[in-house]
Amino acid sequence: MPRISRRTENLGTENAFVVLAEVNELVRRGKDIISFCIGQPDFHTPANVQDAAVRAVREGRHGYTPSAGIVELREAAARYMGAMRGLSIRPEDVVIGGGAKPFIAYSILSTTDYGVGDEVIYPNPGFPIYESQIVANGAVPVPLHLREARNFAFDPAELEAKITKKTKLVILNSPQNPTGGILTKKDLEAIAAVLGRHPEVWIYADEIYSRLCYEGSFASIASLPGMLERTIISDGASKTWAMTGWRIGFASNPVLAPQFVRWVTNTDSCASHVSQWAAVEAINGPQDDAQ
Ligand SMILES: Cc1ncc(COP(=O)(O)O)c(C=O)c1O
Repeated sequence: MPRISRRTENLGTENAFVVLAEVNELVRRGKDIISFCIGQPDFHTPANVQDAAVRAVREGRHGYTPSAGIVELREAAARYMGAMRGLSIRPEDVVIGGGAKPFIAYSILSTTDYGVGDEVIYPNPGFPIYESQIVANGAVPVPLHLREARNFAFDPAELEAKITKKTKLVILNSPQNPTGGILTKKDLEAIAAVLGRHPEVWIYADEIYSRLCYEGSFASIASLPGMLERTIISDGASKTWAMTGWRIGFASNPVLAPQFVRWVTNTDSCASHVSQWAAVEAINGPQDDAQ
């Protein structure tokens, strides 16, 4: 019997998706279930966004797109991500993906080499895909512990202690899954001071929950001096506009964007064309539902 690779046998998962499959099966069998298993908004994708998708299909905009995404969405996402962070982001530095999740793998793949001991620091507890993708892509996972006493932020001194000559990438997630913690401007300044002493390290800023701040306010590490060039900003349509199943994410970095484009060409080819037009409307249209 042919064997399954060790890489695949050892691949981690996101239990929310395991439970979601069980929930959907029970619903299919007619059970009345209230599902708490996965992080998705409890409202429908706004009607104007749905209409934009229907228009795209009817007008024949359903073929492949460039791997980087349609220009209209790259422009809209660049404007949106820039405005949220007080930055000027160029559309050519933005890549559209099939959700924000693939950029976790693309970033690890683009900044570490396989099996040579390259290290990636990631928050723990954190989104489980960080660790599983670090390991699957042959890098070394280095957990950085979030401290309840610090409102589920980590101690910047601990971050500095974990950085070695092998560190290639630090993953930050704010607002944070699963704790809901937010890195304040003061936290980010302390982190930027540490990372300023280690200019060879990339930063992955997973900011998919940037619009879901109920206390305090969202701030991005990319907005601090010297950070933009080395930060991969990751955001997307899933959580803000209740578009989890439409699969649209956007990532931005001036150096890595062309590398991400090649990864998209090698994997998904492009994000769903129809969903891209829906996301253009989500960003540019009325924001009542998102707010
Ligand atoms: C921290 C974090 N990053 C990324 C994602 C992926 O989101 P998307 O649906 O855009 O792939 C999620 C989704 O649950 C998440 O919680």
